[in-house]
Amino acid sequence: SSTKLLIKGGTVVNAHHQEVADVYVEDGIIVAVKPDLKVTDDVKVIDATGKFVMPGGIDPHTHLAMEFMGTETIDDFFSGQAAALAGGTTMHIDFVIPVNGSLIAGLESYEEKAKKSCMDYGFHMAITKFDDSVSRDMEIMVKEKGINSFKFFLAYKGSLMVNDELLLEGLKRCKSLGALAMVHAENGDAVFEGQKRMIQLGITGPEGHALSRPPLLEGEATARAIRLAGFVNTPLYVVHVMSIDAMEEIAKARKSGQRVVGEPVVSGLVLDDSGLWDSDFATASKFVMSPPIRAAGHNKVLQGALSNGVLQLVGTDHCVFNSTQKAFGIDDFRKIPNGVNGIEERMHLVWDTMVESGQISINDFVRVTSTECARVFNIYPRKGAIIAGSDADIIILNPNSSFEINARSHHSRTDTNVYEGRRGKGKVEVTIAGGRVVWENNELKVVPGSGKYIEMPPFNYLFSGIDKADASYLSSLNAPVKRSKSTT
Ligand code: URP
Ligand code: ZN
Ligand code: ZN
Ligand code: ZN
Repeated sequence: SSTKLLIKGGTVVNAHHQEVADVYVEDGIIVAVKPDLKVTDDVKVIDATGKFVMPGGIDPHTHLAMEFMGTETIDDFFSGQAAALAGGTTMHIDFVIPVNGSLIAGLESYEEKAKKSCMDYGFHMAITKFDDSVSRDMEIMVKEKGINSFKFFLAYKGSLMVNDELLLEGLKRCKSLGALAMVHAENGDAVFEGQKRMIQLGITGPEGHALSRPPLLEGEATARAIRLAGFVNTPLYVVHVMSIDAMEEIAKARKSGQRVVGEPVVSGLVLDDSGLWDSDFATASKFVMSPPIRAAGHNKVLQGALSNGVLQLVGTDHCVFNSTQKAFGIDDFRKIPNGVNGIEERMHLVWDTMVESGQISINDFVRVTSTECARVFNIYPRKGAIIAGSDADIIILNPNSSFEINARSHHSRTDTNVYEGRRGKGKVEVTIAGGRVVWENNELKVVPGSGKYIEMPPFNYLFSGIDKADASYLSSLNAPVKRSKSTT
Protein backbone atom coordinates (compact mmCIF):
# COMPACT_ATOMS: atom_id res chain seq x y z
CA SER A 1 0.00 0.00 0.00
CA SER A 2 1.36 3.40 -0.97
CA THR A 3 1.20 6.49 1.20
CA LYS A 4 -0.67 9.31 -0.47
CA LEU A 5 -0.80 12.81 0.93
CA LEU A 6 -2.29 16.12 -0.13
CA ILE A 7 -1.15 19.32 1.54
CA LYS A 8 -3.91 21.77 0.72
CA GLY A 9 -4.06 25.53 0.39
CA GLY A 10 -0.72 26.56 1.87
CA THR A 11 1.82 29.00 0.53
CA VAL A 12 4.51 26.84 -1.05
CA VAL A 13 7.90 28.48 -0.54
CA ASN A 14 11.04 27.59 -2.48
CA ALA A 15 14.32 29.48 -2.48
CA HIS A 16 13.38 31.10 -5.78
CA HIS A 17 9.68 31.88 -5.43
CA GLN A 18 6.44 31.25 -3.59
CA GLU A 19 2.85 30.60 -4.58
CA VAL A 20 -0.39 29.35 -3.04
CA ALA A 21 -0.62 25.73 -4.19
CA ASP A 22 -1.44 22.17 -3.17
CA VAL A 23 1.31 19.59 -2.88
CA TYR A 24 0.53 15.99 -3.78
CA VAL A 25 2.82 13.24 -2.49
CA GLU A 26 2.96 9.55 -3.37
CA ASP A 27 5.44 6.94 -2.16
CA GLY A 28 7.81 9.47 -0.67
CA ILE A 29 8.03 11.65 -3.77
CA ILE A 30 6.40 14.98 -4.61
CA VAL A 31 4.21 14.25 -7.62
CA ALA A 32 2.54 17.61 -8.24
CA VAL A 33 2.62 21.20 -7.01
CA LYS A 34 -0.45 23.05 -8.37
CA PRO A 35 -3.43 25.03 -7.12
CA ASP A 36 -6.71 23.15 -6.53
CA LEU A 37 -5.60 19.55 -7.01
CA LYS A 38 -8.43 17.00 -6.92
CA VAL A 39 -7.74 13.67 -5.22
CA THR A 40 -9.48 10.40 -4.37
CA ASP A 41 -10.78 9.38 -0.90
CA ASP A 42 -7.80 7.24 0.04
CA VAL A 43 -5.55 10.32 0.23
CA LYS A 44 -4.76 11.87 3.61
CA VAL A 45 -5.44 15.61 3.36
CA ILE A 46 -3.61 18.17 5.50
CA ASP A 47 -4.98 21.69 5.54
CA ALA A 48 -2.19 24.27 5.32
CA THR A 49 -4.31 27.36 4.71
CA GLY A 50 -2.55 30.47 6.02
CA LYS A 51 0.67 28.53 6.59
CA PHE A 52 3.98 28.09 4.79
CA VAL A 53 4.79 24.79 3.09
CA MET A 54 8.58 24.58 2.79
CA PRO A 55 11.36 22.08 2.10
CA GLY A 56 12.42 20.30 5.29
CA GLY A 57 15.57 21.69 6.83
CA ILE A 58 18.94 20.17 5.98
CA ASP A 59 21.54 20.50 8.72
CA PRO A 60 25.01 20.41 7.13
CA HIS A 61 26.85 19.95 10.41
CA THR A 62 26.06 17.42 13.16
CA HIS A 63 27.86 14.95 15.40
CA LEU A 64 25.60 12.06 16.43
CA ALA A 65 27.04 9.10 18.38
CA MET A 66 30.53 10.58 18.10
CA GLU A 67 33.36 9.44 20.34
CA PHE A 68 35.06 12.64 21.39
CA MET A 69 37.19 13.93 24.27
CA GLY A 70 37.06 10.65 26.15
CA THR A 71 33.30 10.17 25.94
CA GLU A 72 30.48 9.84 23.40
CA THR A 73 27.82 12.35 22.39
CA ILE A 74 24.54 11.48 24.08
CA ASP A 75 22.34 11.83 21.00
CA ASP A 76 22.67 8.90 18.62
CA PHE A 77 21.27 8.62 15.10
CA PHE A 78 17.80 7.88 16.44
CA SER A 79 17.43 10.42 19.25
CA GLY A 80 19.23 13.20 17.38
CA GLN A 81 17.16 12.68 14.26
CA ALA A 82 13.90 12.46 16.23
CA ALA A 83 14.78 15.82 17.78
CA ALA A 84 15.59 17.18 14.32
CA LEU A 85 12.21 16.07 12.92
CA ALA A 86 10.35 17.68 15.82
CA GLY A 87 12.04 20.94 14.82
CA GLY A 88 11.46 20.69 11.06
CA THR A 89 14.81 19.31 9.92
CA THR A 90 14.45 16.26 7.68
CA MET A 91 18.05 15.55 6.68
CA HIS A 92 21.49 16.05 8.22
CA ILE A 93 25.07 15.49 7.18
CA ASP A 94 27.20 13.95 9.93
CA PHE A 95 30.99 13.76 10.22
CA VAL A 96 32.50 10.27 10.03
CA ILE A 97 35.58 10.06 12.27
CA PRO A 98 38.24 7.59 11.02
CA VAL A 99 39.02 4.58 13.24
CA ASN A 100 42.76 4.22 13.90
CA GLY A 101 43.37 6.42 10.88
CA SER A 102 41.26 4.22 8.58
CA LEU A 103 38.51 5.97 6.65
CA ILE A 104 37.00 2.61 5.63
CA ALA A 105 36.79 1.39 9.24
CA GLY A 106 35.39 4.79 10.25
CA LEU A 107 32.69 4.61 7.61
CA GLU A 108 31.79 1.04 8.58
CA SER A 109 31.31 2.10 12.16
CA TYR A 110 29.08 5.04 11.13
CA GLU A 111 27.06 2.83 8.78
CA GLU A 112 26.37 0.65 11.80
CA LYS A 113 25.41 3.61 14.02
CA ALA A 114 23.10 4.97 11.28
CA LYS A 115 21.05 1.77 10.93
CA LYS A 116 18.50 3.14 13.41
CA SER A 117 17.98 6.32 11.36
CA CYS A 118 14.47 7.74 11.17
CA MET A 119 15.33 10.40 8.59
CA ASP A 120 17.64 10.76 5.61
CA TYR A 121 21.30 11.48 6.22
CA GLY A 122 24.60 11.89 4.44
CA PHE A 123 28.22 11.84 5.52
CA HIS A 124 31.25 14.10 5.46
CA MET A 125 34.57 12.44 6.28
CA ALA A 126 37.04 13.89 8.77
CA ILE A 127 40.70 13.65 7.76
CA THR A 128 42.92 13.49 10.82
CA LYS A 129 46.18 12.52 9.14
CA PHE A 130 47.34 12.15 5.54
CA ASP A 131 49.33 9.35 3.92
CA ASP A 132 49.09 7.00 0.91
CA SER A 133 46.48 4.81 2.52
CA VAL A 134 44.29 7.81 3.45
CA SER A 135 44.72 9.14 -0.08
CA ARG A 136 43.53 5.79 -1.52
CA ASP A 137 40.63 5.63 0.92
CA MET A 138 39.55 9.14 -0.08
CA GLU A 139 39.14 7.96 -3.65
CA ILE A 140 37.02 5.02 -2.51
CA MET A 141 34.85 7.38 -0.44
CA VAL A 142 34.20 9.64 -3.45
CA LYS A 143 33.86 7.02 -6.17
CA GLU A 144 32.04 4.26 -4.30
CA LYS A 145 30.65 5.54 -1.02
CA GLY A 146 28.79 8.75 -1.84
CA ILE A 147 30.99 11.12 0.18
CA ASN A 148 32.00 14.35 -1.57
CA SER A 149 33.38 16.41 1.33
CA PHE A 150 36.33 16.08 3.71
CA LYS A 151 36.87 18.08 6.91
CA PHE A 152 40.32 19.10 8.09
CA PHE A 153 40.82 20.18 11.69
CA LEU A 154 43.34 22.96 12.28
CA ALA A 155 42.50 22.70 16.00
CA TYR A 156 42.50 19.85 18.59
CA LYS A 157 46.29 19.51 18.71
CA GLY A 158 47.37 15.98 19.56
CA SER A 159 44.17 14.31 18.34
CA LEU A 160 42.40 15.52 15.21
CA MET A 161 44.68 18.40 14.11
CA VAL A 162 46.56 18.37 10.80
CA ASN A 163 49.52 20.65 10.07
CA ASP A 164 49.86 22.86 6.98
CA GLU A 165 51.79 20.24 5.01
CA LEU A 166 49.04 17.67 5.49
CA LEU A 167 46.33 20.25 4.85
CA LEU A 168 47.97 21.09 1.52
CA GLU A 169 48.17 17.41 0.57
CA GLY A 170 44.53 17.00 1.53
CA LEU A 171 43.44 20.06 -0.45
CA LYS A 172 45.22 18.77 -3.55
CA ARG A 173 43.60 15.37 -3.12
CA CYS A 174 40.14 16.91 -2.74
CA LYS A 175 40.72 18.89 -5.92
CA SER A 176 41.80 15.84 -7.92
CA LEU A 177 38.76 13.88 -6.71
CA GLY A 178 36.21 16.65 -7.25
CA ALA A 179 35.47 16.78 -3.54
CA LEU A 180 34.87 19.81 -1.33
CA ALA A 181 37.44 20.54 1.40
CA MET A 182 36.01 21.73 4.72
CA VAL A 183 37.99 23.25 7.53
CA HIS A 184 37.67 23.75 11.31
CA ALA A 185 39.59 26.99 11.47
CA GLU A 186 41.34 27.67 14.78
CA ASN A 187 45.10 27.69 15.23
CA GLY A 188 45.59 24.54 17.32
CA ASP A 189 49.20 25.26 18.29
CA ALA A 190 48.27 28.69 19.59
CA VAL A 191 45.18 27.33 21.38
CA PHE A 192 47.46 24.80 23.13
CA GLU A 193 49.71 27.66 24.20
CA GLY A 194 46.70 29.72 25.31
CA GLN A 195 45.42 26.82 27.42
CA LYS A 196 48.79 26.44 29.18
CA ARG A 197 48.78 30.17 29.91
CA MET A 198 45.32 29.97 31.49
CA ILE A 199 46.29 27.03 33.69
CA GLN A 200 49.47 28.87 34.79
CA LEU A 201 47.29 31.85 35.73
CA GLY A 202 45.11 29.52 37.79
CA ILE A 203 42.12 29.96 35.48
CA THR A 204 40.69 26.43 35.39
CA GLY A 205 36.96 27.24 34.94
CA PRO A 206 34.93 27.35 31.70
CA GLU A 207 35.96 30.98 31.07
CA GLY A 208 39.48 29.62 30.48
CA HIS A 209 38.10 27.83 27.42
CA ALA A 210 37.01 31.08 25.77
CA LEU A 211 40.04 33.07 26.91
CA SER A 212 42.48 30.50 25.53
CA ARG A 213 41.06 30.60 21.98
CA PRO A 214 40.14 34.21 21.09
CA PRO A 215 38.67 35.36 17.73
CA LEU A 216 42.18 36.27 16.61
CA LEU A 217 43.09 32.58 16.36
CA GLU A 218 39.96 31.80 14.38
CA GLY A 219 40.73 34.67 12.01
CA GLU A 220 44.31 33.48 11.54
CA ALA A 221 43.35 29.89 10.74
CA THR A 222 40.51 30.98 8.45
CA ALA A 223 42.86 33.25 6.51
CA ARG A 224 45.52 30.53 6.31
CA ALA A 225 43.10 27.86 5.09
CA ILE A 226 41.63 30.26 2.53
CA ARG A 227 45.06 31.17 1.20
CA LEU A 228 46.21 27.56 1.01
CA ALA A 229 42.99 26.62 -0.81
CA GLY A 230 43.65 29.55 -3.15
CA PHE A 231 47.21 28.35 -3.67
CA VAL A 232 45.90 24.90 -4.65
CA ASN A 233 42.99 26.54 -6.50
CA THR A 234 40.27 24.42 -4.95
CA PRO A 235 37.01 25.52 -3.28
CA LEU A 236 36.85 25.70 0.52
CA TYR A 237 33.98 25.37 3.00
CA VAL A 238 34.59 26.98 6.39
CA VAL A 239 32.50 25.28 9.10
CA HIS A 240 31.14 26.97 12.23
CA VAL A 241 32.12 30.59 11.53
CA MET A 242 31.91 32.10 15.01
CA SER A 243 33.65 35.47 14.82
CA ILE A 244 33.81 38.75 12.89
CA ASP A 245 37.50 37.99 12.35
CA ALA A 246 36.76 34.77 10.44
CA MET A 247 33.79 36.25 8.58
CA GLU A 248 35.88 39.18 7.31
CA GLU A 249 38.46 36.80 5.82
CA ILE A 250 35.67 34.97 3.99
CA ALA A 251 34.18 38.24 2.75
CA LYS A 252 37.55 39.39 1.45
CA ALA A 253 38.24 36.10 -0.35
CA ARG A 254 34.81 35.98 -1.98
CA LYS A 255 35.14 39.59 -3.09
CA SER A 256 38.43 38.69 -4.78
CA GLY A 257 36.68 35.89 -6.65
CA GLN A 258 37.76 32.89 -4.60
CA ARG A 259 35.29 30.04 -4.11
CA VAL A 260 34.74 30.01 -0.34
CA VAL A 261 31.55 28.91 1.43
CA GLY A 262 30.94 30.15 4.99
CA GLU A 263 28.72 28.25 7.43
CA PRO A 264 27.55 30.05 10.56
CA VAL A 265 25.94 27.85 13.22
CA VAL A 266 22.85 28.74 15.23
CA SER A 267 24.79 29.14 18.48
CA GLY A 268 27.10 31.68 16.86
CA LEU A 269 24.21 33.61 15.33
CA VAL A 270 22.04 33.69 18.44
CA LEU A 271 24.17 33.48 21.59
CA ASP A 272 26.82 35.66 23.17
CA ASP A 273 28.82 35.20 26.36
CA SER A 274 27.39 38.15 28.33
CA GLY A 275 27.32 37.21 32.01
CA LEU A 276 28.13 33.62 31.15
CA TRP A 277 31.47 33.34 32.90
CA ASP A 278 30.02 34.79 36.11
CA SER A 279 27.58 31.88 36.38
CA ASP A 280 28.21 28.51 38.06
CA PHE A 281 30.13 25.65 36.43
CA ALA A 282 27.02 23.71 35.42
CA THR A 283 25.60 26.71 33.56
CA ALA A 284 28.81 27.93 31.95
CA SER A 285 30.10 24.49 30.93
CA LYS A 286 27.05 23.66 28.85
CA PHE A 287 28.00 26.52 26.50
CA VAL A 288 31.56 25.24 25.98
CA MET A 289 32.10 24.56 22.28
CA SER A 290 34.85 25.25 19.75
CA PRO A 291 35.29 27.86 18.42
CA PRO A 292 33.78 29.38 21.58
CA ILE A 293 30.62 31.45 22.01
CA ARG A 294 31.91 35.00 21.47
CA ALA A 295 31.39 38.35 23.16
CA ALA A 296 28.24 40.29 22.28
CA GLY A 297 28.44 41.84 18.82
CA HIS A 298 29.94 38.96 16.87
CA ASN A 299 26.51 37.30 16.65
CA LYS A 300 24.82 40.42 15.26
CA VAL A 301 27.55 40.91 12.65
CA LEU A 302 27.28 37.24 11.60
CA GLN A 303 23.51 37.71 11.17
CA GLY A 304 24.25 40.62 8.86
CA ALA A 305 26.74 38.53 6.90
CA LEU A 306 24.11 35.81 6.48
CA SER A 307 21.56 38.33 5.26
CA ASN A 308 23.88 39.94 2.70
CA GLY A 309 25.22 36.64 1.36
CA VAL A 310 28.80 36.68 2.69
CA LEU A 311 27.76 33.55 4.64
CA GLN A 312 25.48 31.13 2.83
CA LEU A 313 23.93 28.38 4.93
CA VAL A 314 23.24 27.64 8.58
CA GLY A 315 24.32 24.51 10.46
CA THR A 316 24.16 23.57 14.12
CA ASP A 317 27.28 21.60 15.05
CA HIS A 318 24.81 19.64 17.23
CA CYS A 319 27.19 17.75 19.54
CA VAL A 320 25.63 17.15 22.91
CA PHE A 321 26.93 15.98 26.26
CA ASN A 322 24.82 15.87 29.41
CA SER A 323 25.73 17.64 32.66
CA THR A 324 27.50 14.55 34.01
CA GLN A 325 29.75 14.48 30.95
CA LYS A 326 30.33 18.25 31.06
CA ALA A 327 31.40 17.80 34.71
CA PHE A 328 34.43 15.76 33.58
CA GLY A 329 36.01 19.21 33.32
CA ILE A 330 35.01 20.54 36.74
CA ASP A 331 38.68 21.05 37.74
CA ASP A 332 40.07 21.79 34.29
CA PHE A 333 38.22 23.41 31.36
CA ARG A 334 40.38 21.42 28.93
CA LYS A 335 38.43 18.29 29.92
CA ILE A 336 34.95 19.72 29.33
CA PRO A 337 33.63 17.86 26.27
CA ASN A 338 33.10 20.51 23.56
CA GLY A 339 29.69 20.93 21.99
CA VAL A 340 26.16 22.38 22.22
CA ASN A 341 22.68 21.39 21.04
CA GLY A 342 20.76 22.88 18.11
CA ILE A 343 19.46 20.22 15.72
CA GLU A 344 15.88 20.67 17.02
CA GLU A 345 16.08 24.43 17.51
CA ARG A 346 17.77 25.58 14.27
CA MET A 347 14.70 26.17 12.10
CA HIS A 348 12.78 28.05 14.80
CA LEU A 349 15.73 30.18 15.83
CA VAL A 350 16.70 31.11 12.27
CA TRP A 351 13.07 32.00 11.55
CA ASP A 352 12.81 34.10 14.70
CA THR A 353 16.24 35.73 14.51
CA MET A 354 16.39 36.35 10.77
CA VAL A 355 12.86 36.38 9.29
CA GLU A 356 10.78 37.81 12.14
CA SER A 357 13.40 40.53 12.58
CA GLY A 358 13.16 41.41 8.89
CA GLN A 359 16.78 40.56 8.08
CA ILE A 360 15.99 37.93 5.43
CA SER A 361 12.97 37.02 3.30
CA ILE A 362 10.95 33.82 3.63
CA ASN A 363 12.55 32.58 0.40
CA ASP A 364 15.98 33.26 1.87
CA PHE A 365 14.95 31.29 4.96
CA VAL A 366 14.41 28.28 2.71
CA ARG A 367 17.70 28.97 0.96
CA VAL A 368 19.87 29.20 4.11
CA THR A 369 18.21 26.32 5.98
CA SER A 370 17.79 23.85 3.11
CA THR A 371 18.30 24.68 -0.58
CA GLU A 372 21.83 26.03 -0.34
CA CYS A 373 22.97 22.96 1.58
CA ALA A 374 21.48 20.69 -1.09
CA ARG A 375 23.27 22.68 -3.79
CA VAL A 376 26.64 22.88 -2.07
CA PHE A 377 26.67 19.12 -1.46
CA ASN A 378 25.30 18.31 -4.90
CA ILE A 379 21.95 16.73 -4.02
CA TYR A 380 19.70 19.49 -5.39
CA PRO A 381 16.87 19.29 -6.47
CA ARG A 382 16.26 15.84 -5.00
CA LYS A 383 16.56 17.69 -1.68
CA GLY A 384 15.98 21.35 -0.85
CA ALA A 385 12.99 22.00 -3.11
CA ILE A 386 9.25 21.51 -3.31
CA ILE A 387 8.91 20.63 -6.97
CA ALA A 388 7.55 17.57 -8.74
CA GLY A 389 10.12 14.79 -8.56
CA SER A 390 11.81 15.91 -5.34
CA ASP A 391 11.82 13.80 -2.18
CA ALA A 392 8.79 14.52 -0.01
CA ASP A 393 10.68 16.15 2.88
CA ILE A 394 8.29 18.94 3.77
CA ILE A 395 7.42 21.15 6.71
CA ILE A 396 4.37 23.25 7.47
CA LEU A 397 5.24 26.35 9.45
CA ASN A 398 2.57 28.47 11.09
CA PRO A 399 3.84 32.06 11.29
CA ASN A 400 1.16 32.99 13.84
CA SER A 401 1.88 30.20 16.28
CA SER A 402 4.82 30.35 18.69
CA PHE A 403 7.61 28.08 19.87
CA GLU A 404 9.19 27.75 23.28
CA ILE A 405 12.43 25.94 24.02
CA ASN A 406 13.27 24.07 27.20
CA ALA A 407 15.02 20.89 28.28
CA ARG A 408 11.79 19.48 29.77
CA SER A 409 10.02 19.33 26.45
CA HIS A 410 12.85 18.99 23.92
CA HIS A 411 13.46 15.65 22.20
CA SER A 412 17.21 15.42 22.54
CA ARG A 413 18.53 13.04 25.21
CA THR A 414 20.56 15.71 26.88
CA ASP A 415 19.38 17.22 30.17
CA THR A 416 20.11 20.87 29.38
CA ASN A 417 19.47 23.27 26.52
CA VAL A 418 21.62 26.28 25.67
CA TYR A 419 18.46 28.05 24.46
CA GLU A 420 16.49 27.33 27.64
CA GLY A 421 13.47 29.60 28.01
CA ARG A 422 13.66 31.16 24.57
CA ARG A 423 10.37 31.73 22.81
CA GLY A 424 9.42 33.29 19.54
CA LYS A 425 6.93 33.45 16.72
CA GLY A 426 6.66 30.83 14.00
CA LYS A 427 6.23 27.13 14.69
CA VAL A 428 6.81 23.99 12.69
CA GLU A 429 3.45 22.25 13.13
CA VAL A 430 3.92 19.38 10.70
CA THR A 431 7.02 17.55 9.48
CA ILE A 432 6.86 15.10 6.59
CA ALA A 433 9.96 12.98 5.99
CA GLY A 434 10.18 10.64 3.01
CA GLY A 435 6.44 11.09 2.49
CA ARG A 436 5.58 10.09 6.10
CA VAL A 437 3.95 12.46 8.56
CA VAL A 438 6.39 12.16 11.47
CA TRP A 439 5.49 15.26 13.51
CA GLU A 440 1.93 16.50 13.98
CA ASN A 441 -0.05 17.86 16.94
CA ASN A 442 3.20 18.06 18.94
CA GLU A 443 3.63 14.32 18.60
CA LEU A 444 6.44 12.35 17.02
CA LYS A 445 5.76 9.18 15.03
CA VAL A 446 9.20 8.04 14.02
CA VAL A 447 10.29 4.65 12.75
CA PRO A 448 13.88 3.44 13.35
CA GLY A 449 15.38 2.22 10.10
CA SER A 450 13.16 4.36 7.87
CA GLY A 451 15.89 6.91 7.08
CA LYS A 452 17.86 6.49 3.86
CA TYR A 453 21.52 7.14 3.19
CA ILE A 454 21.84 9.92 0.62
CA GLU A 455 24.86 9.57 -1.63
CA MET A 456 26.47 12.84 -2.62
CA PRO A 457 28.20 12.79 -6.03
CA PRO A 458 31.52 14.54 -6.72
CA PHE A 459 31.84 17.81 -8.62
CA ASN A 460 33.61 16.53 -11.74
CA TYR A 461 32.55 19.37 -14.02
CA LEU A 462 33.89 22.07 -11.75
CA PHE A 463 37.29 20.58 -11.09
CA SER A 464 37.99 19.30 -14.57
CA GLY A 465 37.30 22.77 -15.92
CA ILE A 466 34.73 21.48 -18.39
CA ASP A 467 32.28 24.24 -19.13
CA LYS A 468 28.79 22.92 -18.54
CA ALA A 469 25.62 24.74 -17.65
CA ASP A 470 25.50 22.69 -14.43
CA ALA A 471 28.76 24.20 -13.35
CA SER A 472 27.30 27.68 -13.14
CA TYR A 473 26.11 27.25 -9.60
CA LEU A 474 29.41 26.34 -8.00
CA SER A 475 31.19 28.89 -10.16
CA SER A 476 28.76 31.48 -8.93
CA LEU A 477 30.21 31.01 -5.46
CA ASN A 478 32.78 33.41 -6.88
CA ALA A 479 30.29 36.21 -6.59
CA PRO A 480 30.73 38.46 -3.56
CA VAL A 481 27.01 38.27 -2.92
CA LYS A 482 25.32 34.99 -3.70
CA ARG A 483 21.66 35.01 -4.62
CA SER A 484 19.63 31.94 -5.52
CA LYS A 485 18.83 31.50 -9.17
CA SER A 486 15.55 30.37 -10.67
CA THR A 487 15.33 26.79 -11.87
CA THR A 488 11.79 26.82 -13.19
O1 URP B 1 32.68 22.07 20.04
C1 URP B 1 32.49 21.47 19.01
N1 URP B 1 32.40 22.17 17.89
N2 URP B 1 32.38 20.13 18.98
C2 URP B 1 32.22 19.33 17.84
C3 URP B 1 33.48 19.09 17.09
C4 URP B 1 33.78 20.17 16.11
O2 URP B 1 34.84 20.79 16.20
O3 URP B 1 32.97 20.43 15.21
ZN1 ZN C 1 34.84 21.74 14.27
ZN1 ZN D 1 31.41 20.12 14.39
ZN1 ZN E 1 8.95 27.35 -9.19
